[in-house]
Amino acid sequence: MSELHNTVLKILEKGKGILAADESTGTMTKRLDDVNVPSTSENRLLFRETLFSSSSMTDCIGGVILYDETIKQETSKKIKIPELISRMKSAPGIKVDTGAKVLAGSPEEKITEGLDGLRERLKEYYKLGAKFTKWRGVYSITKNFPSKLSIQSNAHALARYSALVQECRMVPIVEPEVLMDGEHSAEECYEKTSEVIKKCFEELILHKVDLKGIILKPNMILAGNKSKNIIKNEEVAKLTLKCLKNSVPSEVPGIAFLSGGQSEIQATENLNLINKYNDTDFIMSYSFGRALQQSALKFWSKNIRDIEGTQKVFNHRAKMNTLAAQSKWSKDLEV
Ligand code: 13P
Repeated sequence: MSELHNTVLKILEKGKGILAADESTGTMTKRLDDVNVPSTSENRLLFRETLFSSSSMTDCIGGVILYDETIKQETSKKIKIPELISRMKSAPGIKVDTGAKVLAGSPEEKITEGLDGLRERLKEYYKLGAKFTKWRGVYSITKNFPSKLSIQSNAHALARYSALVQECRMVPIVEPEVLMDGEHSAEECYEKTSEVIKKCFEELILHKVDLKGIILKPNMILAGNKSKNIIKNEEVAKLTLKCLKNSVPSEVPGIAFLSGGQSEIQATENLNLINKYNDTDFIMSYSFGRALQQSALKFWSKNIRDIEGTQKVFNHRAKMNTLAAQSKWSKDLEV
């Protein structure tokens, strides 16, 4: 088995998932503003260090995606953050794109940047202990979008990124996120997501990326958050599975969903149902940001020195999602 394939299986073993704690300083500042905590580098570190030293890191969290600031920080006990994560038996990862910018030629849409100098940055992150990386392409659904241009150019960037990451002996997380914002139906989300994912694999194959050594991080198939046609969770799970079965090559070992603005419980419930109906060989787990951290952040913001209390809230969420990744979750476990 290749080293990269092994890394994927280790990150996603036994219902483990990924903690996406790679919010850029701008995004993290918004999150902290929302709970009235000043966004200083000390506070960002304190919250993250609290999560990364929780007991669920060993039992539930196979990998943590970090932001550039965090991977270079040390804990109050002078332990380097990647070292802390490794000691908890989890794998440190790093977001390497530099964000979504206006796409020339279709300025209502976005193209993710960060390829310039990427090979050199990857070498540095590898030395800092990173075992895997993330790059996110982002697509909106409206009447005319996503355009062929945005689908093609983001897929191309994701593939060039993935090839460079594997060259540097790390696992690329390939994240094409079709956003939940809008009035679109679940069927439209299904169609657009299928088109986006198929194009990504076309480019990944062209760039000779080893598909056994990647993790796909897609959105679930949902109706837009302003849609009038709300569908049942069962339907979300079935459409999501149908989409992935038809667009993801069978060599891909693992799929880890983003939460995309769903509530914590909704994301867990949908993940549980996806696993209940999963008749594929894909491991279906989570790579959640908000749906893993929201309650913990809220609690922490009011009890900033209560490490144990914050960890208890985070441990619960991580455990629920790890159960859902094995279709062992039920609502009565939430109380
Ligand atoms: P959410 O789960 O909050 O969507 O974040 C996941 C992520 O990493 C987005 O890039």
